[in-house]
Amino acid sequence: MEKAVAIRAPAKINLGLTVLRRRPDGYHDLLSVMQQLSLADTLLLEPHREPGWRFFCSEPALSGEDNLVCRAAALLAEKAGQRRPLPGVKISLFKSIPVAAGLGGGSSDAAAALKGLNSFWGLGLSLAELLELGAALGSDVPYCLLGGTALVQGRGEKVASLPALPFHWVVLALPPGLQLSTAQVYAALNPGLFMSPRLEPLIAAVRERSRRALRLWFAGGATNTLEAAVLPQQPPLQALKRLFLELGLHPAMSGSGPSLFALCDSLPQARAAARALEEAGNRAFLCWTISHVHERKE
Ligand code: C5P
Repeated sequence: MEKAVAIRAPAKINLGLTVLRRRPDGYHDLLSVMQQLSLADTLLLEPHREPGWRFFCSEPALSGEDNLVCRAAALLAEKAGQRRPLPGVKISLFKSIPVAAGLGGGSSDAAAALKGLNSFWGLGLSLAELLELGAALGSDVPYCLLGGTALVQGRGEKVASLPALPFHWVVLALPPGLQLSTAQVYAALNPGLFMSPRLEPLIAAVRERSRRALRLWFAGGATNTLEAAVLPQQPPLQALKRLFLELGLHPAMSGSGPSLFALCDSLPQARAAARALEEAGNRAFLCWTISHVHERKE
């Protein structure tokens, strides 16, 4: 009998994101530096008497078979073929990462399911094989499989590790009730915004592990092509951005939004900012950058 396994599925932020061009298949080529945070969902895999998988999610709206976790399980089972019956597993997903917020929660859940079930079912697939399956599930899944700090290219399927970011406290916030569809944000994107901002200064800052150069990157204000497309349409997000600035922080939007984040050097500063953002009616999280994911076996 397999043992129960709890897997953390961390949120991601885009330290920088540039949309380069629209592709004939409707997707966009990107250049992005991604970073994982301590904020995480948890995926629990428990042995089950009957073969196949059962799925439970702490958020009823996400409990359907179309959840990326179920799609990851189905893809793995298909890849495994009929060589032998797969051990029965109950998959429970406990959500903490806000949904449709630009934090890659669903993609990270899918990556955790691919890794966890690969091991639970003893399939022995390599990271390269998991990356290929991940890309079929969603553009951010390959990055979530790799984790840490990474350079992401293509549609999201080309991922390469970068040196781990120096530890930072991170304040994350989003206006209550605001969810954005990634597909809609991309569809409304004006090609005049493509190729900007240039990520070279960010990539150099990360390679050099320079806190000072990172601070300068965020102080520059323009970190994400999609922010320039989303912000003018979203007054609540403009107000949230102003609040960050009044608190002395330099916010950046993650992915297709609406989450804004700021890196902080000190815990007191981060704690005070998170409290002030929450008191102003936003959802706010105090978290930190992580370099790898821990797995707990029972
Ligand atoms: O790959 P994923 O399903 O997460 O992407 C959601 C939507 O975001 C896609 O349907 C597409 O409209 C858009 N997208 C894009 N270019 C990317 C990633 C996502 O146009 N590189």
